[in-house]
Amino acid sequence: MQEKYIDETKQGEAYAIAEKPQNNKKLFLESYGCQMNFSDSEIVASILSEQGYNTTLKPEEADLILLNTCSIREKAEQTVRMRLSQFKSLKKERPNLTVGVLGCMAERLKTKFLEEEQLVDLVVGPDAYRDLPNLLKETDSGRDAINVILSKDETYADINPVRLGGNGVTAYVTITRGCDNMCTFCVVPFTRGRERSRDPHSIIEECKNLWENGYKEITLLGQNVDSYLWYGGGAKKDFKNASEMQKLTAVNFAQLLDMVAVAVPEMRIRFSTSNPHDMTVDVFQVMAKHKNICKYVHLPVQSGSDRILEKMNRQHTREEYLTLIKKAKEIVPEIAFSQDMIVGFCGETEEDHQQTLSLMREVEYDYGYMFAYSERPGTAAHKKMMDDIPADVKQRRLAEVIALQGELSRKRMEGYVGKIHEVLIEGISKKNENQWKGRNSQNAVCVFNKKEGQNIGDMVSVFVHGNTQGTLLGETVMA
Ligand code: SAH
Ligand code: F3S
Repeated sequence: MQEKYIDETKQGEAYAIAEKPQNNKKLFLESYGCQMNFSDSEIVASILSEQGYNTTLKPEEADLILLNTCSIREKAEQTVRMRLSQFKSLKKERPNLTVGVLGCMAERLKTKFLEEEQLVDLVVGPDAYRDLPNLLKETDSGRDAINVILSKDETYADINPVRLGGNGVTAYVTITRGCDNMCTFCVVPFTRGRERSRDPHSIIEECKNLWENGYKEITLLGQNVDSYLWYGGGAKKDFKNASEMQKLTAVNFAQLLDMVAVAVPEMRIRFSTSNPHDMTVDVFQVMAKHKNICKYVHLPVQSGSDRILEKMNRQHTREEYLTLIKKAKEIVPEIAFSQDMIVGFCGETEEDHQQTLSLMREVEYDYGYMFAYSERPGTAAHKKMMDDIPADVKQRRLAEVIALQGELSRKRMEGYVGKIHEVLIEGISKKNENQWKGRNSQNAVCVFNKKEGQNIGDMVSVFVHGNTQGTLLGETVMA
């Protein structure tokens, strides 16, 4: 099965960088799941770097092991439990070693984690990372420690993330936290709490700072970036009614995107994740206006059937989604889309499944992340619906959507052949050390031979002469 973001973020990868020379304790920090977790880990590393910790890639030399966990599907939780069991022997050898669980599993399981997993000493939810120094004092004195309080306004706006394990060229900038959408299958609103938007000034500051430090591409990050909304001088909850809020300057996502594009005019800008229900046409207009905003939108739809979309509480129809895509293509003709799709949701018929396949054909996505439905405790679907599609049917439907996406991706990649693309060099190709890899504006991965004088972080013009299912093959040319 294809796992989300497998290309962009490496599941379960630990990161280490040289930090403060005066720090004498070692932190092994491993992240699972979505980009938001990887971004949060950079906040955690920043908080702990003030507490004497530098990161290490070797769990056996760590004083503190932290796993930033994901609850989105059952399999994600199993992976973390297996990883934890691998630390058992380390813990036996070194009783002073502290093992902690961060993120969505911490939030979902709370104290149960301390009961179930004997070797876990520390459980910290996504809004409680500022409390880590206090919690570590507890564990240092031999007690278990937990903080899973969710916040209505924590955005970690003032914390300058320690950039972990990256290429020094691309970085995430968190703009919203939490989600209020309550899709019936999804655990995120329970594990990450209410949606809140970060102060635009701190976002701009972070982007400028990244540019000054040599970064060339940022991804504005949130569970649902399109619902970004910030009210001058306060948060949404501080105002009694809508008209009182209107009087103050509000910043929505399209405006924020515009502000960022102007503030760092040569920085490449991406954003993720978009939600069809909250996305507005003005976002596409801003994309068309600025050369530095990449012409790519990750726009999950989950299903092509109105009946299933309604059961999922996605709050839009198939037609509305297709209309949005059509308008986007009119405003930004070179735009590319990717999707998230769930197969085998409660009550999904063969007809619903066919609707999903036909919607995919209609949109012609560049790329997709496809999943078999996994029931999550506490969600509306778990409480009110039957997870009634047999595992073998889910797997067959999943294989069908993956195969179709493969065809569509190949077709889209073929469309890029014979043209020149602007590509940011992000690193060395995994398969051939004499080649660079990077992405074009549409987020398609492109590999090409290295040339004298080129470096990671350079923007180059690449003539694409061929492709595989998911990769463009090219040669750099003079711009
Ligand atoms: N807005 C979020 C979505 C988070 S979940 C974001 O930033 O990406 C990522 C994807 O996981 C969803 O779009 C959905 O396709 C999938 N997913 C969520 N809950 C799931 C479940 N219970 N079973 C299977 N897939 C699920
Ligand atoms: Fe989950 Fe739906 Fe929000 S998929 S993250 S509840 S938009």
